[in-house]
Amino acid sequence: MSFQFSLTIMLYFQMVIMAGTVMLAYYFEYTDTFTVNVQGFFCYDSSYTKPYPGPDESSDIPPVLLLSLVTGVPVLVIIVGETVVFCLQVATRDFENQEKTLLTGDCCYINPLVRRTVRFLGIYTFGLFATDIFVNAGQVVTGNLAPHFLTVCKPNYTALGCRQFTQFITDANACTGIPDLVIKARRTFPSKDAALSVYAALYLAMYITSTIKAKGTRLAKPVLCLGLMCLAFLTGINRVAEYRNHWSDVIAGFLIGISIAVFLVVCVVNNFKGRRTEHEHWPTENLAQMPIISIPRVENPLEKSLRQERVCNEAERCVNHLTAFAEVT
Ligand SMILES: *[C@@H]1O[C@H](CO)[C@@H](O)[C@H](O)[C@H]1NC(C)=O
Repeated sequence: MSFQFSLTIMLYFQMVIMAGTVMLAYYFEYTDTFTVNVQGFFCYDSSYTKPYPGPDESSDIPPVLLLSLVTGVPVLVIIVGETVVFCLQVATRDFENQEKTLLTGDCCYINPLVRRTVRFLGIYTFGLFATDIFVNAGQVVTGNLAPHFLTVCKPNYTALGCRQFTQFITDANACTGIPDLVIKARRTFPSKDAALSVYAALYLAMYITSTIKAKGTRLAKPVLCLGLMCLAFLTGINRVAEYRNHWSDVIAGFLIGISIAVFLVVCVVNNFKGRRTEHEHWPTENLAQMPIISIPRVENPLEKSLRQERVCNEAERCVNHLTAFAEVT
């Protein structure tokens, strides 16, 4: 099997996974394929009798604003960031050392700028949909009630026979309010706004931290990153302030967003580093003596002058490695 063919299959496979993820998110968001778990409530329970804050669109952070920030800002920052990194590499001729080894078969040479940008944005988009699926699955399975649940549910306490506060109502048809609002008020745990905003902020913060290496940014980078995290934090807190979520929903949303961002950045995109570091840390020819812990190397002038030679060796090794891989598949 040729290398090009296996590459095509791998690409196709990734497209299928991506399409499946988007479909699942779509079914959760826009259809009632998955029915919400119906939780009961105590008569007059004061945790659920907060005033109804109006539809999500009237919130201080409406869904349209949140979604455009969460999709627009990272796309913009990553495209600008990758372009700058690429231009700097071309300017310092580091580019030739770094990316000549990455050929996709004999025919094509993918521009490393395009390749990195597509990878980082693709993983980001995947994570966004994954976060959405986690959140929706949690909401549907638990069916936890919003702080304003009883206000939109409008149960007829006389008909339900509520004589004391400790009486628990499990009747699924107890609500006389507008059904759409009632269903919405049953989907609160975890908070979607909290999860999406913290996922976007953390992914972006980690991108900025590991990509920008300019001098004099020692304090500017943390300030920028913590500023992003603060915005995400406020987005979550705002949900509590507007009686749309309990604080536990927001904390659960934060945890989901943080976990998915950390997992994707650390395990999947390898902290936004190029492939070269992987080859340096795990040379293919001496796998037997592979070090468990890699020690960061300090480059001395002699090594720098020898770099050109090493790159050639590395390119050969890379091609050999790829051929072996193609034969295995
Ligand atoms: C509540 O239920 C009682 C008894 O079934 C009925 O008489 C009353 O009209 C109902 N109230 C409302 C507001 O629907």
